[in-house]
Parts: sequence; C-alpha cells; structure tokens
Amino acid sequence: MVTSLVKTTLSVIKADVGSLVGHHIVHPNQIKVAEEELSLAKESGLIHDFVVTNCGDDLQLIMTHRKGEENSEIHGLAWNVFKKAAAVAKDLGLYAAGQDLLSDTFSGNLKGMGPGYAEIEFEERVSDPFIVFMADKTEPGAFNLPLYKIFADPFSTSGLVIDPKMHEGFSFQILDVIEDAVYELKAPEESYDILALIGTTGRYIIKRVFRKADRLISAAVSVTKLSLIAGRYVGKDDPVAIVRAQYGLPAVGEVLEPFAFPHLVAGWMRGSHYGPLMPVSQKNARCTRFDGPPRIVAFGFQIKDSKLIGPADLFDDPAFDMTRMKAQEIADYMRRHGPFMPERLGPEEMEYTTLPQVLEKLKSRRV
Ligand code: F6R
Ligand code: MG
Ligand code: MG
Repeated sequence: MVTSLVKTTLSVIKADVGSLVGHHIVHPNQIKVAEEELSLAKESGLIHDFVVTNCGDDLQLIMTHRKGEENSEIHGLAWNVFKKAAAVAKDLGLYAAGQDLLSDTFSGNLKGMGPGYAEIEFEERVSDPFIVFMADKTEPGAFNLPLYKIFADPFSTSGLVIDPKMHEGFSFQILDVIEDAVYELKAPEESYDILALIGTTGRYIIKRVFRKADRLISAAVSVTKLSLIAGRYVGKDDPVAIVRAQYGLPAVGEVLEPFAFPHLVAGWMRGSHYGPLMPVSQKNARCTRFDGPPRIVAFGFQIKDSKLIGPADLFDDPAFDMTRMKAQEIADYMRRHGPFMPERLGPEEMEYTTLPQVLEKLKSRRV
C-alpha cells in the first residue's frame, strides 16, 4: 500500500466492546476514556485529529494522520482504546463487555481481530469533503445498494451524465468473503456483472470505489466479516464506510440521495432478521424496537491539512422524515411475519439457530 509523508489518511475504526442496557448505546464513560487516549495520541503527533462518537452500541474512532492505511501504530492505538473502553464496560457491568476483541494480543494490524475499519489514504484536494457512514444492526453488504446508486446509477447521481469529470464512470472492487477473492469491475460497461454479484449482499461486498479517469479513490467500506473470522458468529459486523464528494465526484446530496430509500438489510434482532435501514441523526442512533430497526448515521467533514473540520450530522434533517416514517411502516410490515422468512434470514445466514437440535431430536420421530 502506498505510504507517503505528504498524503493524509482518514481512518474510521470501530468496535462493540460493551454497551448500556443490552446492545443499545455506548456509555459516556467509554467515550470519555477514548477521547482521553486519542488526545494523548494527538499531543504525541501520532494522529493529527480525531472525533470519537458512537452509532448505537458501536464505539467509533474517526482519525486523521499521515501514517497510511493498515498502519500498525494506528491500529495498535485503536486496539488499546478499545481495550480501555472494554475495561470500563467490565467495571460498570455493561452488556457484552469486550465482545469484538477476539484476541488477547495485538499483532500488527486489526485484520481478523474483530474491530472493523475503513481507511483512505489520499492527496488532499484544495477543499476535500468526506462523508463517514456508520451503521448499527447490519452488515457491510448493506452499503452495496447505496454505493451502486451513488457511483453507477444516473437516476440517482445525475452528475454521472452531466459532469464531464465523472462521465467515464467508476470502478468497483468487490470482495467475495467466502473465497477471499477481490474482483474489479467497471461501470457503466460492466454494470450487469457488478449487479449479478453485489445483489448477494451476504457474500459479495463492495470494498472500494475508484474514479476511472484517474483512479482517484472515492469510497471505502469496512469489509470485516466477524462471522467468518471467528469461525462462528460473534456479533454484528455493523459496518462503516467513507465516501468522498464534490468537484468531479458525486455531490454531497447525490451521496445522500440513495438513503432516502430505506432498503431492507440483514442484521436486525439476533443478527437473524431483515429490517429497513433508517437514516438518523447521531443522537437517534439508539436501537430499541426489536433491537432496531437498523440505523445509519452520516457525519460530513472537510479535511484540511490533516485536520477534521466538522462533523456535520447530515441525516439530522426533516428532508429524511418521510424516509424514517416509511422505514417504520416497513418495519411493521416485516415484523408481522414473525419467525417466517423473509423477515427471518435464510438458515445459512442466521446468527442464532436451533435447527440442528430440533432435527436431531426429531430423528426418532419420523413417520
Ligand atoms: C446485538 C444485537 C441484538 C442481540 C440480541 C440478543 O448487536 O443486535 O439483537 O443479538 O439482543 O443478545 P444476547 O444473545 O446477547 O442476549
Ligand atoms: Mg452489542
Ligand atoms: Mg452494534
């Protein structure tokens, strides 16, 4: 991975290390300890700026630095912050303390360790707007549909048709989480192939997006699959994504537009149900009804000289009220199916199941 001293890196690293009243919200003392640790790292010069927040029960560390992607010092810093926040959770008897910390020791980077991360190393444009998306009670494939619409659907992003800088289109890196293989496909010319893959949201996940004309990095998603890392399901993937905007990229409003449709995503209650993805302000990223419905928060930043100017809480806007109402209507409709598919996920994707025991018990009962 290219690492140069003049480039800036935006790292968004998150983990669920325990929360207040079930899987609801991060406790303020956990935020405090994370802020204290990152302040020290900023003073030492390791990072240049940071924002600590939460999306529901996930602690989010948003950091800028000049160390590049997958850097061991930055990942080590995040790991230590999560350990400290997990210790707070233990002290307070918070729920599922330390849940996403799958290993006892840190060994260089966070891949396979439990926390999720999206990172972009880039040369700063004169003015560089970024949007950090953070979701709770869902999985990384939840970004497939909106990212496709942002970077490949002219009915959503009209700039694809009318902005000369975008007119060549974008290429998508897609990860097959089962084979651990990455494909790079181009839109618009290979859009049917892209859709043939990314419609299977539990397996093929958009990982990165580049502008075709100059390979400008335009988006990155945390593609960690906790289920596959641990060999068994140990918690939601609750993904984050970074999307760049403006000046030859989709405008901020074009980036947000696909979220006006509360599409169905996997991960509601016990990681075993589909629910609508509801865009909310950060203060409303607190899942209640049936541990949901799944939420998404969008923090906008300008990045200047490796400093984070912001955040602007972008879904804190009445323009998304109708989407939220629609999401609740869909939530209601889906819930009426109770334990039946398609409200409940297919058997291969459920976090909780009793099917093997039930089948075992019924072996002697065949008629
Ligand atoms: C966790 C989540 C929740 C839990 C559910 C059961 O992020 O989404 O829906 O799966 O609350 O949790 P346990 O098994 O810990 O009682
Ligand atoms: Mg939790
Ligand atoms: Mg969560």
